[in-house]
Amino acid sequence: MNFDLLIRDGIVVLPWGEAEADIGVKHGKIAAIGKNLGTASEEFNAAGLHVLPGIIDPHVHFRDGGQGGIPGVEDMRSGSLAAVLGGVTTALDMPNTKPPTVDAATVRTKYEYIPGHTYCDFGFYVGATKENADHVGELEEMPGVCGIKVFAGSSTGDLLVEDDESIERVLRSSRHLVAFHAEDEYRLRERKPRFSVGDPYASHAEWRDPECAYRGARRIAALARKTNKRAHILHVSTREEFGFIKEHKDLISAEVLVNHLLQSGPEAYERLGGYAVMNPPIRSKEHQDAAWAAIADGTADTIGSDHAPHTAEAKERPWPTCHSGLTGVQTILPLMLSQVNAGRLSLLRLVDLMSAGPARIYGAVGKGRIAAGYDADFSIVDMKAKRRIENSMIASQCGWTPFAGTECTAWPMATIIRGNVVMFEGVVPGEPTGRAISFRH
Ligand code: DOR
Ligand code: ZN
Repeated sequence: MNFDLLIRDGIVVLPWGEAEADIGVKHGKIAAIGKNLGTASEEFNAAGLHVLPGIIDPHVHFRDGGQGGIPGVEDMRSGSLAAVLGGVTTALDMPNTKPPTVDAATVRTKYEYIPGHTYCDFGFYVGATKENADHVGELEEMPGVCGIKVFAGSSTGDLLVEDDESIERVLRSSRHLVAFHAEDEYRLRERKPRFSVGDPYASHAEWRDPECAYRGARRIAALARKTNKRAHILHVSTREEFGFIKEHKDLISAEVLVNHLLQSGPEAYERLGGYAVMNPPIRSKEHQDAAWAAIADGTADTIGSDHAPHTAEAKERPWPTCHSGLTGVQTILPLMLSQVNAGRLSLLRLVDLMSAGPARIYGAVGKGRIAAGYDADFSIVDMKAKRRIENSMIASQCGWTPFAGTECTAWPMATIIRGNVVMFEGVVPGEPTGRAISFRH
């Protein structure tokens, strides 16, 4: 056969294990896997490199509702450029954009904006509100939508559905997947007056304490049980939540964030100040250890970055006036690959959490595995490359990362999306060719 692209001599991470194989690509899809496959118009020499299925970051905030995002912070173009530089082939974008993605008009506007504005493939959440709670399931079926996002606790933006009655309406309306920011709004409100402007940044984790997250997760699980609907709990961050979710895996799936795996308080707050502040917060070591245990025992289904850019000025304000959220889409893969090299998880488990897992949870069509007939999306990585993360590398407009100075062993060398080499050795030569992806409901 004459392929459009032949990826030669790489170590291919198949769903069933690693194999030395070539991959033939035709019309943007994987056409053959093996040796001596034939000729091709273009060849990619992957000798010495690992070929992973395209990495999916299921949790980004690119800020852009189809009107150009927030200048100096992020838009779809700069966020997706950061994604492909970091080896991410698909991003799922949150609805607390400008304007918020909460009705048929804003969903359509965002969908139509995708061609020409995104380097990576793209899906996005529709945000639940008290107004749309009874019909948000219809919006969930619109093209490009990966599921419903509920902010049950308030964070950046105005989206909030905090009471049981409204959350139940959202769940009943849902046809696919409801993903939750689970922190309990009532406990957040009750605890806030204990603190004052200028308190140490570490106060963030005391205000939004483990009980806020645990209580929220319990309420959501009870409502999922009552309505017999699935719930995906985003950024699970406490030992108590992991223990609880394990008992409810028939209905509840769980996301873990890189920041909760790699940072802990109070040290992170002392070192990073406002650049450690995010929701749910970076917590103490026992909770970090519980997140790793959830990686080891399978409680965690996906890993996300919760890429949430803000200006440096907004991050450097005194607590709690500093904005919450940390960039991460460009660093998620090298950081997690470095953890593979450090022996904390296997490369197969990384692929399970960062490609197959998101594809399974969201029902992303054609994504998540290297297999004949699937999209030819690959994150090609050098497991031996040593690089240091620097602010100067960051393509997000805000221009900073909480991991500046971190040494990585392993680095993304190429990002291939539907057979197009979008990034090669840190260079993105072309214009945005990303597309909205489909989700099987
Ligand atoms: O820290 C956060 N930042 N947590 C969220 O839930 C939202 C995000 C943002 O959009 O800035
Ligand atoms: Zn988020």
